[in-house]
Amino acid sequence: MEMTAEALHKKLSPIGVGASTCNYDMATCEKMVPLINKINKLKKEQNAIILAHTYVPSEIVYGVADHVGDSYGLSKKAIEEDADTIIFAAVRFMGETAKILSPEKEVLIPGLDSGCTLADAITGDQVIELRKQYPDHAFICYINTTAAVKAQCDVCVTSSNVYDIVQNYPNDKIVFVPDELMGLNLQDEMARRGVEKEIVLFKGVCYVHEKYDPEMVEFLRGENNGLEVVAHPECSPGVAAQADYVGSTEQMLHHIKDSDAPAFLLLTECGLSARLQIEFPDKTFIGSCNMCKYMKSNTLEDILRVLENPREEDRVLLGDQEIKDAKGCIDRMFEMVEG
Ligand code: 13P
Ligand code: SF4
Repeated sequence: MEMTAEALHKKLSPIGVGASTCNYDMATCEKMVPLINKINKLKKEQNAIILAHTYVPSEIVYGVADHVGDSYGLSKKAIEEDADTIIFAAVRFMGETAKILSPEKEVLIPGLDSGCTLADAITGDQVIELRKQYPDHAFICYINTTAAVKAQCDVCVTSSNVYDIVQNYPNDKIVFVPDELMGLNLQDEMARRGVEKEIVLFKGVCYVHEKYDPEMVEFLRGENNGLEVVAHPECSPGVAAQADYVGSTEQMLHHIKDSDAPAFLLLTECGLSARLQIEFPDKTFIGSCNMCKYMKSNTLEDILRVLENPREEDRVLLGDQEIKDAKGCIDRMFEMVEG
């Protein structure tokens, strides 16, 4: 069924306007709807699916996406879905992960600025050098890394499983790359769990999550009685220590769904706040919106462009050996999570 501007406006207008990208007035929705309907028609004709991370603009999440989620859930969808083409509205490393897991599918990346300060922090060659320095250590990488980095690592983790995988990994010496803040949270969590591991860290950082500051959290708690603070593990340990719950974007959503708190402060990219305002209209969200310019570089226009006429640079192209090596690293994560 075709979408109407009225239906889109009704869906997206609960988003509190924090920036011009959140202003879903009727005129904006009227402009978006023809593109949405064209994309939905073409994607059916081409047996394509659109996977979208929660952080991308809401018109993609609610207008054209077949699945929305965190990096773990979307990786699973890339395997499970029977499609010829995956359009990955997110950032490049997520598209690469989909290609590694489903090499027979065409994977297209519509975002024109699809980097990630974490994935861009370390190269495969740097991991090779580090391996020489730490020959007895297991190398565990965050999923926010390139295929070349995954190809050099033993297992990868996402924000939804990092603590359990590191705890259960059969090696007491670990090099964790590239997120230093997540690594510091990991060290703290292992100490809380009484797990003794030597964890060597690298100096990568997410430029969105590093901006949150513990004093701001303390101030907002003082201003809002019963406030529940929910944070992503890419935030600093000072911020994570202030949070009532720390988890992946999808875990944060489920936690909030089940919580009776009178108000929530979300310490992550503002795409999650937008989703929650739409999906839980009776809950109250306060504060603090930091945007990821890479995730927000995804547009309806570019999704239509890659469906109609993809350029070479929109395609995810990886070598067979790189796919094989990187797949081992991701498969080990699935084995450890799902047995
Ligand atoms: P999630 O897997 O928790 O969605 O995180 C991805 C990400 O890039 C967070 O900045
Ligand atoms: Fe990368 Fe941070 Fe953007 Fe997530 S929010 S994609 S970690 S830059």
